[in-house]
Amino acid sequence: MKIVVIGGTGLIGSRLVKKLREHGHEALAASPNTGVNSVTGEGLREALKGASVVVDVTNSPSWEDAAVLKFFETSTRNLLGSEAVAGVGHHVALSVVGTDRLLESGFFRAKFAQENLIKASSIPYSIVRATQFFEFVKSIGDFSTAGNKVLLPPALIQPMAADDVASGVGRIAMGSPLNGTVEIAGPERFRLDELIRMDLAARKDPREVITDAHARYYGIQVSENALIPGNAARLSETRFEDWLSPAMSAR
Ligand SMILES: NC(=O)c1ccc[n+]([C@@H]2O[C@H](COP(=O)([O-])OP(=O)(O)OC[C@H]3O[C@@H](n4cnc5c(N)ncnc54)[C@H](OP(=O)(O)O)[C@@H]3O)[C@@H](O)[C@H]2O)c1
Repeated sequence: MKIVVIGGTGLIGSRLVKKLREHGHEALAASPNTGVNSVTGEGLREALKGASVVVDVTNSPSWEDAAVLKFFETSTRNLLGSEAVAGVGHHVALSVVGTDRLLESGFFRAKFAQENLIKASSIPYSIVRATQFFEFVKSIGDFSTAGNKVLLPPALIQPMAADDVASGVGRIAMGSPLNGTVEIAGPERFRLDELIRMDLAARKDPREVITDAHARYYGIQVSENALIPGNAARLSETRFEDWLSPAMSAR
């Protein structure tokens, strides 16, 4: 199958393209760096020619409220429109577990808008909601830092390795459209404060994590269960501790 990965040069996209090729598919990594822009439409028609599946793993260059909404709305509309013309039979998009519980955030309002455009379109689809990537854990700590302290709520979190996200998205892309949403997540649940403490310790980072029920997660209030998936989630195998040591020695 020809499978076009929009955002195919990114953290998830590059891993996904590799995995799809290993399964014998013709995977095209499409992004501004390869001459394909889902916002302006540049290169889209050519890229989608003969494609059976399009996987959207793009991210917005700006997370400012209006910019991120414009990015996901424009990009998704352009992709779905071009897919209809090209006769693409499956649109797969990567979203985030809990998106509908995190709408105080402009980023999640944009992801929710993306999901709703996909659901309303005529293209058969699968939405894959993943939990936070292990690779993203450091930036959670950085965002919540004030001086040498990191303020975090004790909300539950069930993160997963980017490599496992790519495998999960790949399995869905190679299968039939779900016309629905599936959740994927890591094998273990942590408290957010505890997870960041582990990450900082592995990095020998002296910042102190302060647990504060009123602290915010990326600027928004999160309830205890807002970030974790439901019981039907497909769980991956890589544990955070097993990922941490090789990730630290590769720095
Ligand atoms: N971070 C998390 O923990 C988490 C959890 C669950 C889900 N997600 C979702 O996972 C998705 C992928 O994240 P990621 O970390 O892999 O992203 P990333 O590494 O930042 O990569 C973003 C990709 O989007 C491409 N892109 C940017 N603007 C584009 C445009 N106008 N047209 C086409 N492609 C464009 C980039 O291309 P260039 O390289 O050419 O710039 C790059 O390939 C996001 O939608 C995010 O919401 C993230």
